[in-house]
Amino acid sequence: MSRTFLLVASLVVVTCGACGQIPLQQSASTSEAPVVTWKGLYAQNCSGCHGADGSIGGARPLRDASYLASVSRNGLIDIVRRGQGVLMPAMDVSQGGAISSEQIAQLVDGMMSDWGQGGKPHVVAWAGELGSPQAGHAVYAATCQSCHGLPDGVAAGTRGSVTDPNYLRLVSNQALRSAVIFGRSDLGGLCNGPYPGQPASRTLSSSEVADVVAFLASKRPNFGGHTP
Ligand code: HEC
Ligand code: HEC
Repeated sequence: MSRTFLLVASLVVVTCGACGQIPLQQSASTSEAPVVTWKGLYAQNCSGCHGADGSIGGARPLRDASYLASVSRNGLIDIVRRGQGVLMPAMDVSQGGAISSEQIAQLVDGMMSDWGQGGKPHVVAWAGELGSPQAGHAVYAATCQSCHGLPDGVAAGTRGSVTDPNYLRLVSNQALRSAVIFGRSDLGGLCNGPYPGQPASRTLSSSEVADVVAFLASKRPNFGGHTP
């Protein structure tokens, strides 16, 4: 009887002794602010959609030097803070996200200086207005159709459809524009040329980019609700 009591009593002492040490250890580690690198922020907040090392994710690659040399720093920060379209979530704490504005700036600066190294700005601006859907139809037929198929699923191409209404409901005009200008180099997506059946030097002008994006946007159904 008394031996059992002693055993319990000593267990309690041991447990309390350990408890007493935990707050000490915690205060020692929290007194040094943890260093979070931009790559750590990327891994935790972006890699699930934009790919483990900035490529081969569901969303466009961010480790794309030409893309990062062409975007505006403030534009990128704004997209990351507030989100874009239907699928890109707002990341800033003030918008319901999990990271601070300072961390977003750190992340964007890290990506631009590291993954953007050696990139040349594209001649066509990253952001821009929509052009003419009619003119864009002709651009689509000449430069996109061989891979993405006839519009409206009339005949499939060698790659996924980009005129599918359900796809278009989920993707913003900016995401379409970025795809046309920069392609998806990580998936062999040379949407920015060379185009099958066209001279190797064929590239899209600013107005052709605006037109082909307007053509795709014109195929987006409007069922009400949230539009990208
Ligand atoms: C839940 C998936 C998801 C997460 C997480 C995510 N993104 Fe995105 N992101 C997307 C999608 C999808 C798009 C395209 C959305 C659209 O415009 O239709 C996008 C678009 C973008 C664009 C704009 C690309 C362009 O030119 O149109 C940038 C920049 C971007 N994301 C950066 C980030 C960064 C940096 C993070 C991490 C802080 C992040 N994203 C986290 C899915 C995600
Ligand atoms: C040589 C073939 C080829 C041509 C030509 C081409 N693309 Fe693509 N495109 C791809 C591939 C590959 C992908 C990656 C997805 C896939 O495999 O379907 C892609 C993806 C896309 C995407 C989705 C981007 C994303 O974020 O996932 C869009 C939008 C797109 N292309 C638009 C166009 C437009 C508009 C044109 C014409 C100006 C065009 N493409 C020309 C091969 C091509």
